[in-house]
Formats: sequence, structure tokens, C-alpha cells
Amino acid sequence: MSEGKSCPDAGGGGSSTALSRVPAPADPIPVSPIPAVNVASVPQRSPLRYPGGKTWLIPHIRHWLKAIEPRPKLLVEPFAGGGIVSLTAVMEGLVDRCLMVELDRDVAAFWHAALRHGPELCEMVRGFQPTREAVDALSRQVPANVLEHGFRTLVLNRTRRGGILAPGASLIRSGECGMGLASRWYPGTLAGRLSAVADNAGRIEFSESDGMALLEGMPAGAVLFVDPPYNAGGKRAGQRLYAHNEIDHARLFTLLAETKAAFLMTYDRSDEIEDLVGKYGFQAIQVEMKNTHHARVPELVITRERMFPE
Ligand SMILES: C[S@@+](CC[C@H](N)C(=O)[O-])C[C@H]1O[C@@H](n2cnc3c(N)ncnc32)[C@H](O)[C@@H]1O
Repeated sequence: MSEGKSCPDAGGGGSSTALSRVPAPADPIPVSPIPAVNVASVPQRSPLRYPGGKTWLIPHIRHWLKAIEPRPKLLVEPFAGGGIVSLTAVMEGLVDRCLMVELDRDVAAFWHAALRHGPELCEMVRGFQPTREAVDALSRQVPANVLEHGFRTLVLNRTRRGGILAPGASLIRSGECGMGLASRWYPGTLAGRLSAVADNAGRIEFSESDGMALLEGMPAGAVLFVDPPYNAGGKRAGQRLYAHNEIDHARLFTLLAETKAAFLMTYDRSDEIEDLVGKYGFQAIQVEMKNTHHARVPELVITRERMFPE
């Protein structure tokens, strides 16, 4: 790479000013020693294909939970979405139980259905053909009960682009291998994941409520995985992805500083969040993830104590 490219602000013309260039300051946020993960190597335990899902973070979650002493009994996830972290923690025996909290009515209906009516939901999945007519009819239907509502959420999640359920989301068009709407509808795989959720239902609690309110009264001995919708620092992605996307980020940091619970929180990189990390004396590392366009994007993983002590 030419000098001009590596230092575009240095002034042009090859004059002597080049000698007095100030080196770019080192990034104050260290990079995680755990390498970027190929998500195909992580068991996909959530039946939902969740926008902003944290499958790529699972190796860090395992490392974090295994280092906590005594072994945590309860993991609380106040912004649960597809719940991959809670499901993995319970199913891999990293914690005894989890509490997943989510405000979105449709997502909540899915979790209620999966936890209370697992076998019936599996049957509905196995019997469904995701034609455009069937998906359109389902999206217009007013569900008669929580099972129908949860099933509708699952179908729409797996047939809309990017799994987005928020208003304005469009359907998958050509999809994988030109399979269109069916390209993310794998009945056998989904039924398998639903059965695993149902088998563990006694250890998974779900609450349709406000995760911020929950943080004000955390149960003693619980640990927290916090993955809020993000639209700070001028980025509006959270608005497009989730119906509930307004979070008071400064308040969230204050609540975490006030609780005694160990926590691991994720965020996009932004000056606002990095300032809050500094203000509260939290620790942050950068973890690389691949976004849906296969670009490598650094995300922040924030904890109270250093995750990788030197
Ligand atoms: C980034 S997503 C979580 C993704 C999740 N970690 C996963 O792997 O699937 C954030 C979620 O927080 C939910 N949410 C937003 N505000 C909330 C609130 N006040 N209480 C509970 N959930 C909320 C959104 O509906 C969205 O599902």
C-alpha cells in the first residue's frame, strides 16, 4: 500500500511534511484472543433466525461462563430475541437455568408456544408447506391462541428476508438455490431444535416484559447476558430490525454498574458506547464477526472485570 493511502490526511506532494507525520494512535480497545468463529461450527439451537443473533459469540460466552466461580446457577437475558445464548448455556450445562425476557409480542408468543406446546408446534412445522399463498394467508390471520401465534411468528421469521419481523420487512425472494420462500424452512431441523427446547423447558423460563425493568431487581447470584437493540451513535439499524428499538443506553450502563451481577454485554462500536465504557470503568474487547454481507465487522464485548487478564 502506498504511503498516500496509509495516511490520507498527511498532505500531498511528497514534501518534507511526510517526515513529521504523527502515527495513528493505537486503538485503546484490545482485540479478543479468541479467533473469529465460523458460525457453521457452532450448534444452532434456536429455531428462530434472528437478526442480530449472537451465534458467532458462543465461544466467548463459553469462555466467560466457565471462568465464573462459583458456577452460575441462573443466566438472565433481558433482550432475548432468538435466545441462542440462553439456550446454549442451558443445553451445554454451563448454567442450571435461564430466564429469557423479550418485549416483542410476536417473539414472546413463539417462546410461550415452544415452551408450553412443543410437540404440537413440531407437528405444525412438519405439516406446513411454505408457498406464497400459505405464508400470505398466515400473515393475515388473527391467531386464535398462543400456539397459532407462535407458529405464525416462526413461519414469518423464516420466510422474511434476514428473519426480520419488524413492520416493513419483505419476503425472501430467490433464496438459497432458487428455493425462494422455502430456502430457510427445514421442517426436520426445526422440529429437532423445537424438541430440544421442549426437553429443556423445565430449565428455561420466559417472560414477556421489559428487560430494563428487570435489571432494576436482579435475583441474587444470577449472571447477565445483555444484547440490547442498537441505534446509538447515529446508526439506525436497530429501528429497521426490531419493533422495539428505543433503549436509554446511558441508563442501561447505570443499571449494570448498580447491580452486583457479573455481566457480558455486546454493542456495535461507537464513540457514545466507548465513552460509557470509560465512564463506568468497564472493560471492553473487540470481537470480529461476519455480517450478512460477509464483511468483517468489529463488535464490542463489555464486561465488569477483564475477560482475559494479562
Ligand atoms: C439485538 S436483539 C437480541 C438478539 C439475541 N441476542 C439473539 O441472539 O437472538 C435485541 C432484542 O431486544 C428486544 N427488546 C428491545 N427493547 C426491549 C426491552 N425494553 N425489553 C425486552 N426486550 C427488548 C428486541 O425486540 C430484540 O428482540
